[in-house]
Amino acid sequence: MRTTDLFEDSLADALRGSGLTLLRGFALPLGRAWLEDLERVTNAAPFRHMMTPGGQRMSAAMTNCGTAGWVTDRTGYRYDRLDPDSGRPWPAMPDSFATLARRAAAEAGFEAFEPDACLINCYLPGARMSLHRDRDERDYAAPIVSVSLGLPATFLWGGLERVDRPRRIPLAHGDVVVWGGPARLAFHGVAPLADGCHETLGRRRINLTLRRAL
Ligand code: SIN
Ligand code: FE2
Repeated sequence: MRTTDLFEDSLADALRGSGLTLLRGFALPLGRAWLEDLERVTNAAPFRHMMTPGGQRMSAAMTNCGTAGWVTDRTGYRYDRLDPDSGRPWPAMPDSFATLARRAAAEAGFEAFEPDACLINCYLPGARMSLHRDRDERDYAAPIVSVSLGLPATFLWGGLERVDRPRRIPLAHGDVVVWGGPARLAFHGVAPLADGCHETLGRRRINLTLRRAL
């Protein structure tokens, strides 16, 4: 048995019952179709570094597609139907994103997931996301579906309390994680991105976080 298999087995054991489903390579059958969709979105709503209410610049650049987009500024966190940079609605969610999210959610046991918001995070080497909970959505019954593209990253999967020591989960291009149910409000984050070069995305990691927000 290879070391990677041993690692995957013990990771799978550790995650069992944690409320997080790890779907290795689930987005790979999309091929590169998502790339054109992503470009269409980012041409209409370019990546930007948002500010936290505390006045910190977020290290990942962000944009959104879908009916609502997650934004943060000095006044707080919220979902907004309009892109505050352009004053226009966010670009529509590409079918490829919505279909992938629906299928991933079903695979994780959440039937009939209909995402209306897709946050798109872009990490350059060194960028990170500190531990937080996704709790700006109206209804916590729907899961969170998170798609990793480009450079590999270490996902931090914590517990329901901020002090719970997070588990480190390596995520590669095409991996999808889904969490919900009792773990819907679990703390999670991303460790500082290691430098590298991905064949399609270069020195970047893109993350699509699909949610039911409104
Ligand atoms: C997030 O929690 O918004 C981002 C997670 C990720 O980039 O994998
Ligand atoms: Fe999050």
